[in-house]
Amino acid sequence: MSLRNKNILVVGGAGYIGAHMVRQLTHAGCGVVILDNLSTGNRKLLQGGSFIQGNLGDADLLDRLFTGNAFDAVMHFAAFSQVGESMHQPLTYYRNNLAETVALLDAMVRYDVKRFIFSSTAAVYGEPVAIPITEDHPCAPTNPYGNTKLAVERMLADCDAAYGLKYTALRYFNAAGADVSGEIGELHDPETHLIPIVLKAADGQIDHIRVFGTDYPTTDGSCIRDYVHVNDLAQAHLLALDALLEGGDSAIYNLGSSNGYSVKEVIAKAEGVTGKKIPVVEAPRRPGDPAILVASSDKIMRELGWTPEYDNLEKIIQTAWNWHLKQK
Ligand code: UFG
Repeated sequence: MSLRNKNILVVGGAGYIGAHMVRQLTHAGCGVVILDNLSTGNRKLLQGGSFIQGNLGDADLLDRLFTGNAFDAVMHFAAFSQVGESMHQPLTYYRNNLAETVALLDAMVRYDVKRFIFSSTAAVYGEPVAIPITEDHPCAPTNPYGNTKLAVERMLADCDAAYGLKYTALRYFNAAGADVSGEIGELHDPETHLIPIVLKAADGQIDHIRVFGTDYPTTDGSCIRDYVHVNDLAQAHLLALDALLEGGDSAIYNLGSSNGYSVKEVIAKAEGVTGKKIPVVEAPRRPGDPAILVASSDKIMRELGWTPEYDNLEKIIQTAWNWHLKQK
C-alpha cells in the first residue's frame, strides 16, 4: 500500500476517531486538510495537517477548500453520534448528519473528487435478527441517529449510480480505546460512552456508573456490545482508501471485533485493568438501545486483509485507562 503524497480532506478530524485517523494518515505520508467546526471535536486532538475551523454545510468555505486543494479523497467523520440524544433531538441529527453531508457530496461532485469514505454505524441494523451481524442483515434502525446514517448510505449509492462517486461505508460497532502514545483519546463533553464513564467511576471522578437496563434478554440482563479499538478502525480506513484509490468499487463493511461484552462484563474487566472497585447503580433502559450488537467483520478481513491488532477488551481498556490517567 502506498498512500504517500495523497491529499486527503478529513472532515471531523478533530474528533475522537478522526484524530486517530489523521495521525495514521500523516504517518503514511499523506497530506491532510482537516475541516472541523469543533462542536464536538477538540483542538487538543489535532494531529498535524492543516486545520480549518468551519461547517461542512458552508458552501462558500467548501468552494474555497476544493478550489485551493486537489484532494484525492474525502473522509467524513463529522457527525453527532449519541443514540439517546438523537431520540430527543431528531432534527438536529438530520440537519447535521444528513443535510450537511448533502452539501459536502455536492461540492465533491462539482469539483470532481470521486472517492469518499464514510463513518457509518452498527446503528443502521436496529434490533438484530441474527448474531453476528453481517452486512446483508436487514437495516431497520431503532433511533434517529441510525436513520440519518442509513439515509447517507442510500444517498451514496444514488451518487455512485448518477455521478460515479465511489465510496466505502464503514459500519463501526463500538469504537473504544486510545492511541498508545497517550496523546489522543476519547474526549467528549459531556461524556456519554460507557468505557470512559466507567473509568471516571474507577478513578472516583464520579460516584458510580449507571447500568442502563438490566432486563434485556442477555445472559446478565445488560446490553451486549462489540468494542473495537480506535486504531484498528483507522487502519481499516487506510485499507479502504488504498482500495478506492486503486480503482476499487463502492463497498460497505462492518468494523467490529466479533466479540460481545455486556455492560456488566465491561465494568468487571475495567475493575481488573484499573485495580479499582467500581460502584454500580442499576438504572432504567436508555431509549433507542438494541439489546445486542455484535459484528461479523469477515467481509473486510477477506476482501481488504484487515487484521485488527487489539483482539481483547482488556487491551482496549488498558489504552483508554492510560489516556484517562494522562488527562489528570
Ligand atoms: N451504558 C450504560 N451506562 C452509561 C453509558 C452507557 O449502561 O453510563 C450502556 C448503554 O446503554 C449501551 C452500552 O453501555 O448499552 C454502550 O453505550 P455507549 O453509549 O458507549 O455506546 P452505544 O452502543 O450507544 O453507541 C455507540 C456509538 C454509536 C454507534 C453504536 C454502535 O456511540 O454511534 O456504538 O454500536 F452507533
